[in-house]
Amino acid sequence: MKALVCTQFGPPDALTITDCPAPSAGAKQIVVRVRAAGVNFPDVLMVQGKYQVTPPLPFTPGKEIAGIVTQIGAGVTAFKVGDRVCAQIPHGGFAEEALVAVNHLVARIPDGIDFVTAAAFPLAYSTSFHALKRGQLKSGETLLVLGASGGVGIAAVQLGKIMGARVIACASSEEKLELCRLHGADATINYETSNLRDAIKQSTGGRGVDVVVDPVGDRYSEPAVRGMAWNGRYCVIGFAAGEIPKIPLNLVLLKGCSIVGVAVNSNARNDPTEYRENFAQLMEWIANGKLEPVVTATYPLARAADALADAMARRIQGKVVVTPG
Ligand SMILES: NC(=O)c1ccc[n+]([C@@H]2O[C@H](COP(=O)([O-])OP(=O)(O)OC[C@H]3O[C@@H](n4cnc5c(N)ncnc54)[C@H](OP(=O)(O)O)[C@@H]3O)[C@@H](O)[C@H]2O)c1
Repeated sequence: MKALVCTQFGPPDALTITDCPAPSAGAKQIVVRVRAAGVNFPDVLMVQGKYQVTPPLPFTPGKEIAGIVTQIGAGVTAFKVGDRVCAQIPHGGFAEEALVAVNHLVARIPDGIDFVTAAAFPLAYSTSFHALKRGQLKSGETLLVLGASGGVGIAAVQLGKIMGARVIACASSEEKLELCRLHGADATINYETSNLRDAIKQSTGGRGVDVVVDPVGDRYSEPAVRGMAWNGRYCVIGFAAGEIPKIPLNLVLLKGCSIVGVAVNSNARNDPTEYRENFAQLMEWIANGKLEPVVTATYPLARAADALADAMARRIQGKVVVTPG
């Protein structure tokens, strides 16, 4: 089978499409013929050796998949050959076939949800939903989303609206902000061309925001903390812009705000029940049309490295999905 392979840590252009041995299902595993695989910034970090988890070389990146079960390992009773499933996996998604451990991170896809949609939400949407719950977002509160046109960001915009918040979306271009408005943002801020703290104050009549979703970090974080309301919750999700920011703790004291760490996979490990419930809720909203994951582009497997290069260069919007066939 063909797979995108990382043989040395480095930028995505070092990745190659390679003929690899087809996987075989061991105990408590299934093999999935991958029909679609979502692209996430963690893939970009992983191929550079900068992710929290560094797989041994060579490996295939890709953490979100949807496809058809082709093999069942010993002890698997929850799935059968032919089932349509989607899953969050440690890596290995950008391939014609993927080996998947049977646990709470894999689920059957309801009829009516296509593979591209099903591959676009397991990681990004679970992360944002978990963040908004950790941040205790309430109906009527104001939510600020940094990197709002990215995968995690646009999910937070959509889920924030479903949860009844007023959503302020921040991104680096008018085109990206337009995508956020299209998917529900009530107000937008271009954080490259404006003073973020002042723009937040202006957008909230001087009050500040209740919850911040921050998948970007770097120089964007401190002005967002400065733009928080009393008793706000700041959700730390990631550092796509590069630097891990150092926030002066006097700001946290003065605002009476909380800084909340969000790590969806640690949550899935530590509280599988909550992960499963969140996942089921997202799937239900997608199935009944309340939530539609924002997929702006698909790439054939042969161009999977380009998709990662585009994510690294800040060129993608919403979710992009690789379609091995
Ligand atoms: N904690 C968790 O459980 C968890 C789970 C999934 C992902 N994450 C993290 O969340 C972050 C976002 O992931 P994602 O998959 O949503 O990524 P993505 O789709 O590529 O979005 C990242 C956004 O960050 C902004 N950005 C600012 N500077 C950037 C730079 N130098 N390079 C790339 N993007 C930059 C971009 O928007 P603008 O151009 O508008 O600034 C972009 O839309 C990543 O740090 C990822 O590791 C964390």
